[in-house]
Amino acid sequence: MTVTSRSLLSLLTLPLILTLTSTSTSAFETIENPFVGGDPENGWTYLPPVPTADLHLNWPITGTDSVMPVYQSAALDDSAITRAIIVPGGKPRDSWSYWITIKNILSYSAEIDPTINASTISIMSPVFLASVDVEAGAANATQLYWSKSGWFSGTYAEGPNADDKISSFQVLDDLVAHYADKERYPNLQEIIFAAHSAGSQFFQRYAALRIPTEDDSIIHYIPANPGSFVWLVEDRPAPNDTCADVDRYKYGLSSGFPGYSTGNVNEIGREGVVERYRSRNVHYAQGTVGSGQIPVEHFLTQVLFLPADDGPGDTACEAVTQGSTHLERGENFVDMLNLNGGMPLNHTIDWVEGVSHQNDQMFNSTALRTRMFISATIPSTGLRPLRKREVKAKAAGRGFKQGLQLS
Ligand SMILES: *[C@@H]1O[C@H](CO)[C@@H](O)[C@H](O)[C@H]1NC(C)=O
Ligand SMILES: *[C@@H]1O[C@H](CO)[C@@H](O)[C@H](O)[C@H]1NC(C)=O
Ligand SMILES: *[C@@H]1O[C@H](CO)[C@@H](O)[C@H](O)[C@H]1NC(C)=O
Ligand SMILES: *[C@@H]1O[C@H](CO)[C@@H](O)[C@H](O)[C@H]1NC(C)=O
Ligand SMILES: *[C@@H]1O[C@H](CO)[C@@H](O)[C@H](O)[C@H]1NC(C)=O
Repeated sequence: MTVTSRSLLSLLTLPLILTLTSTSTSAFETIENPFVGGDPENGWTYLPPVPTADLHLNWPITGTDSVMPVYQSAALDDSAITRAIIVPGGKPRDSWSYWITIKNILSYSAEIDPTINASTISIMSPVFLASVDVEAGAANATQLYWSKSGWFSGTYAEGPNADDKISSFQVLDDLVAHYADKERYPNLQEIIFAAHSAGSQFFQRYAALRIPTEDDSIIHYIPANPGSFVWLVEDRPAPNDTCADVDRYKYGLSSGFPGYSTGNVNEIGREGVVERYRSRNVHYAQGTVGSGQIPVEHFLTQVLFLPADDGPGDTACEAVTQGSTHLERGENFVDMLNLNGGMPLNHTIDWVEGVSHQNDQMFNSTALRTRMFISATIPSTGLRPLRKREVKAKAAGRGFKQGLQLS
């Protein structure tokens, strides 16, 4: 699908321009990110309360005795909900922080665009705890917990009872079933899985492996800046013969699937998985800082003080065969889709200018705000960066000058 993004972008930025030129003052409270005791390595000591969210400590997983913590928008009329945004925490399992980020961006979006009614959008952030959180105090011994990086590839929970075999993908199935329940949410139109980095790895892989139900057509996946992808073909853009099992899950589709998927993959095979993935509604998003197209207002914070999203991310050799940076992996993934059947009809790519590996600025881009809060099915937006070779040349020096000239 090739639609020029310029006219669309100017349409989308219109509300912003109107706001900047109007005299209205901010009508919403920005929620501050709370201090939380502990740390991701040694465990969080508690889960903080968040204003305007319910923290359900014992959210039940249907058909099991298992429970886990979930943040969800409070005090909304379920029958008025039209959209559900499901956002996990990052690698640090900081779900509260991501819930707050999306909520603040929703408040801002509703203020500048009268067609967005924040009371009709439910935000949910499940907490995939780790055993260190149980030890440090954030979790009860009764709540599910995963290995620190297992949850974002779909593994079974390690506890309280590993024998229960609760996959983090099964949890997502259950959250879909919660929102797709027409008796509870009669007006729900879209379920959006929006995530950044580790959470993006989770959702891109879920898009490939989710066992289908009749609800699939209302689900949209937005994996922004993932550290790596589950690759669809065996070839890699930067092959490495000494990197063993490069096509093994979580990086590829030849073997090593999580328990959630083994039966299903045996049944439909690799081709079935690829065909199903291509039919789903996947909206890639890549921050393009490093391309030399940095707006001057972001220049100081993003170029001088923050690593550009052409940073390496996952340094495992399997990830490196997908590209040397987050951005390059995204570009290569899109190229791989194009070379193997074309860009699927229901996939889009947003190139987000002026943004690096920053979840808040990715989510706050016009493209992702539109997909999350208005309609996920808009065409691709933004401009793909200049050729990768030039990206490197700019990163080595010329980018600074180029960035400043763009005022
Ligand atoms: C927003 O939605 C809520 C829930 O349906 C409704 O009560 C309220 O009137 C709506 N606000 C506007 C401005 O339409
Ligand atoms: C989103 O962007 C707008 C416009 O730049 C800004 O006013 C707002 O504070 C941002 N919100 C968040 C949560 O980053
Ligand atoms: C642990 O369980 C107790 C009793 O149900 C409850 O009061 C407490 O809030 C729980 N704590 C956490 C961190 O889930
Ligand atoms: C793909 O998009 C079309 C048009 O928006 C929609 O009708 C169809 O249901 C989508 N496919 C899936 C699997 O969601
Ligand atoms: C290839 O893989 C091996 C084994 O992990 C690793 O030591 C080596 O650095 C990789 N080479 C490149 C160019 O990434």
